[in-house]
Amino acid sequence: MTAGGGFQAVADGAARHIPVLGRPALDFLKVHDGGVYIDATFGAGGYSRAILAAADCKVIGIDRDQTAIALGADLVQAANGRLTLIEDNFSNLDAIARACGFAAVDGVVVDLGVSSMQLDTAERGFSFRLDGPLDMRMSGQGASAADIVNAASERDLANIIFILGEERHSRAVARAIVKARHAGPIGSTRALADIVASVVRSRPGDIHPATRTFQALRIFVNDELGELVGALAAAERILKPDGRLVAVSFHSLEDRIVKSYLVDRGEVRAGSRHAPELKRPMPTFRVLTKRPVAADEAEVARNPRARSAKLRAAERTSEPARSVPPMQFLPRLPSLADVLKGH
Ligand SMILES: C[S@@+](CC[C@H](N)C(=O)[O-])C[C@H]1O[C@@H](n2cnc3c(N)ncnc32)[C@H](O)[C@@H]1O
Repeated sequence: MTAGGGFQAVADGAARHIPVLGRPALDFLKVHDGGVYIDATFGAGGYSRAILAAADCKVIGIDRDQTAIALGADLVQAANGRLTLIEDNFSNLDAIARACGFAAVDGVVVDLGVSSMQLDTAERGFSFRLDGPLDMRMSGQGASAADIVNAASERDLANIIFILGEERHSRAVARAIVKARHAGPIGSTRALADIVASVVRSRPGDIHPATRTFQALRIFVNDELGELVGALAAAERILKPDGRLVAVSFHSLEDRIVKSYLVDRGEVRAGSRHAPELKRPMPTFRVLTKRPVAADEAEVARNPRARSAKLRAAERTSEPARSVPPMQFLPRLPSLADVLKGH
C-alpha cells in the first residue's frame, strides 16, 4: 500500500462508503503495483478507493451520473494523478481507456444497478418510498420514466413490466396505468406507486407492491441490460491476457446475462455431432467462480442491500476478442422509439 497521506485522509474520511462485496471483488481483481484498473460504476467511489489503497496502481472511474463524478473530485485530487474520472456509459469502457492512453488494462469491475445516493434522493425519482418526479434517469439525459409511462401502449407497458420486473400482475398494472392516464399525466413516484398498489396486493412482510414495476421501468429507461452486454464485450476487448473481470449484480436478469456470457466465452466446446468439422472459437475467458459469490451474514447484517448481490469473476485468456457482441443474451423488448410512439 503506497497511497500518500492526502489520499488516505479521503479514503478514511466521513464520506467513506463501503461497497457491496468489496473484499472478494478486490481479491479477484488481483490488484498489483503498476496495474491499470477500470471501476466502471464509480458511484460513491467505494471500489476505486479500495483499489487505490491496495497498490501503487491507476484507476479509471466511469459513471454516467454527473453528480457521482462531481462528488469524486476530492478523491481525484487526493489520488495524485492515479485516478481519472470520466462521465460516460460503461459500454464505452474500452474506448475510454484508450482515450486515457491505455491500450489494455489489468482489471475491470462493474457493480451494477443504482447507488444508494441515487435511490435516496427523492428528486431523482427512483424510489417508490419517496415522493418525487417520475424520472429514474441515471444520466439525466433522454426519456424519463414519466415519458414512458405516459406514452407507451398498454401492451408495451405490460411487456416491459413482465420481462424486466418479472411482475406476474403486469397486465393488471399496465391496465391500471392506462386508465389512470385518462385523468391526466402520471408525474410522480407516489402517483405511480399508488396506481400499482391498487392492483397488486401485498401481505405484511412482502416487498412493496411497486418494487417490480419500478425495477422494470428503471432498467428500461437506462437500457441497463443493453449497457451490461456492451460492457462485457468492451471488457473482452480491453483486458490484457490474465486481466480480471469482476461483475456484481443485484437481480436475476443481470446475473443471468453475466453467467451466460461467461459460459459462452469460457467454454471449450466439443464439435457438434452434426457438424464435427466446424471450428469452435477458443475461450476468451477462464471462469474463476463456478458458483456466484454471495455476501456473508455479517455483510448482510451491516448492509441489507448486499442480500441479493452475486459476484462472478473471470480471467482473460490470450485469444482475440470475438467480433460479435453477445446480443443473444438480451430479452426481446420493444425499442424505446416505438414505446414513445405509443403503438
Ligand atoms: C451500485 S452503484 C456503484 C457503487 C460503487 N461501486 C461504490 O462503491 O460506490 C452503480 C453506479 O453505476 C452507475 N451506472 C449504472 N449504469 C451505468 C452505465 N451504463 N454506465 C456508467 N455508469 C453506470 C450508476 O450511476 C451508479 O452510480
